[in-house]
Amino acid sequence: MTAEKTLLRFITCGSVDDGKSSLLGRLLVETGSAYEDELANCGGDLSRLVDGLEAEREQGITIDVAYRFFATETRKFIVADAPGHEQYTRNLVTGASTADLALVLVDARKGVLTQTRRHTYLCKLLGVSRIVLLVNKMDLVGFDEAVFERIVEDYGAVAEDFVAIPVSAFSGDNVGVRSNAMAWYRGSTVIEHLEAVEPVEDQSAAAPFRMPVQFVTRHGQDFRGFAGMIAAGTVRPGDAVRVMPAATPAIVARIVLGEADLPEAVAGQSVTLVFDREVDCSRGDTIAAADAPPEVADQFEATLIWMDEEPLMTGRQYRLKLGTQSALATVQPPKHEVNVNSLEDVPAKTLQLNGIGVADLWTDVPLVFAPYSEGRQLGGFILIDRVTNETVGAGLINYALRRSNNIHAQVLDVTREARAALKRQTPRLLWFTGLSGAGKSTIANLVEKKLHAMGRHSFLLDGDNVRLGLNRDLGFSDADRAENIRRVGETAKLMLDAGLIVLAAFISPFRAERRTVREMVPEGEFVEIFIDAPLAEAEARDPKGLYAKARGGLIPNFTGIGSPYEPPEAPEIRIDTVRTSPEEAADQIVRFLLEQA
Ligand code: ADX
Repeated sequence: MTAEKTLLRFITCGSVDDGKSSLLGRLLVETGSAYEDELANCGGDLSRLVDGLEAEREQGITIDVAYRFFATETRKFIVADAPGHEQYTRNLVTGASTADLALVLVDARKGVLTQTRRHTYLCKLLGVSRIVLLVNKMDLVGFDEAVFERIVEDYGAVAEDFVAIPVSAFSGDNVGVRSNAMAWYRGSTVIEHLEAVEPVEDQSAAAPFRMPVQFVTRHGQDFRGFAGMIAAGTVRPGDAVRVMPAATPAIVARIVLGEADLPEAVAGQSVTLVFDREVDCSRGDTIAAADAPPEVADQFEATLIWMDEEPLMTGRQYRLKLGTQSALATVQPPKHEVNVNSLEDVPAKTLQLNGIGVADLWTDVPLVFAPYSEGRQLGGFILIDRVTNETVGAGLINYALRRSNNIHAQVLDVTREARAALKRQTPRLLWFTGLSGAGKSTIANLVEKKLHAMGRHSFLLDGDNVRLGLNRDLGFSDADRAENIRRVGETAKLMLDAGLIVLAAFISPFRAERRTVREMVPEGEFVEIFIDAPLAEAEARDPKGLYAKARGGLIPNFTGIGSPYEPPEAPEIRIDTVRTSPEEAADQIVRFLLEQA
């Protein structure tokens, strides 16, 4: 009986011209393998960020990582082939998140570059435990041992534990066949090394049972099943489990795979579980061993890898995907950023493209997780921009913040409905957005006067006033504006709970934050009012003389001049301030409210 071939997953990294494609071509020629580059071949093996990947595919976003499959006499290989351009950190992250080994290519003429350092750092961060340094293009430096030795020494400052091989991917030296031109090298060839390296021991089968639910199945009338890939542990019929985050208990009645019932299933297998009772369980929940459930939290410290041209915006909500779970996440200002050249922690206000840093983040719903260091499945996530749908960051959970476990929403006996009923009104948040000088405050003021006269209980939150108190610490950077709106949203939400009609007059230039506030409050209570004045008109009015100052270069990020304004796409009310007087505008808004109530 022949032993089953072991599987090794690896990734190639390096800069654009370091010779990755020649190397891959070489590996295939030398192993006589047929090249297959279908993800399908890897099936359930590519578990981790692939859920993220699939989410991206559903959204029509492509990631340029090709998973190629080949084999030698003794071993099967899956190689994540990620394009090496600087922009493509995301490809590297995707590839590295499933790899056991990394081939790091360096051009012998150029030596160790920033890109080499960044890629190595990312590989280590993402848990790629085996690093092989390939000093390529040795033919172009006369197969000189001294050049090789110098690069190996330099690389020693980047990685502690690695194997180095001098190669020429172009001529094939030391890839599949030992090089005559480099008789001074006595180690293995690349293929010998790939075949001999010990496979990473998979500890996950021994860990407590965890299975994120991918979808719910119905088999006729008989039973509901919960399908997913087992992330860790072993499951047998009769096992006591909990559905997290709710921690609902159940007993596993059956383990179904296709037509068959299994006596047992382990990490890596995709199966359907059936319970002994009806249980509330859906996509995004995690089924876990009852006696060792995973942690659940909504505030974390994480290491973030930023992958977008647009820098991280602290305070903004991003869509977070952790396996099959989805949440809205707000990133706090970074605690520090990592300089990949010196490996030092340096202070940072945000993260730019390719930046790596550590920050706290909050989610709107609790997540079932495990620190990334304990397992890739429940510890790694991606962040998606809610407007562009681009994946903008990847993150590795370090730990949950303790406060997140110790604060629980308090149930109040006097409800928001009771408070509103006493005031005989329906709470509403009238959100006035528009350029400075468009007339937001003027119109909001008139609306409040009219409501007051009608005996309505209201409160007006105005940009300039709030910035003199609650938000005195905030300026006008994009991140500060986002935080300004977040705090105002939270304040308005409390006032809605108090039963008030809240008027908020803020430039609030970004769609993302206006949408965040809309979603923070109960459906239908947010009324977006676009006070529409063309820039030229607002500038001509210039009630506070700020446009003149901005044009004079005294206010560098003034809205409409040095800082963008994103008009609402579908506001409930649009006021054309060129054609409508403030008095008419106020009447129109009050009429809208009366019709609604
Ligand atoms: S927002 O962008 O964060 O929503 P907000 O409505 O609170 O702004 O404050 C806007 C007011 O701050 C303006 O009406 C103006 O009086 C003042 N201001 C000072 N600097 C700026 C700036 N750079 N951009 C816009 N408004 C500014």
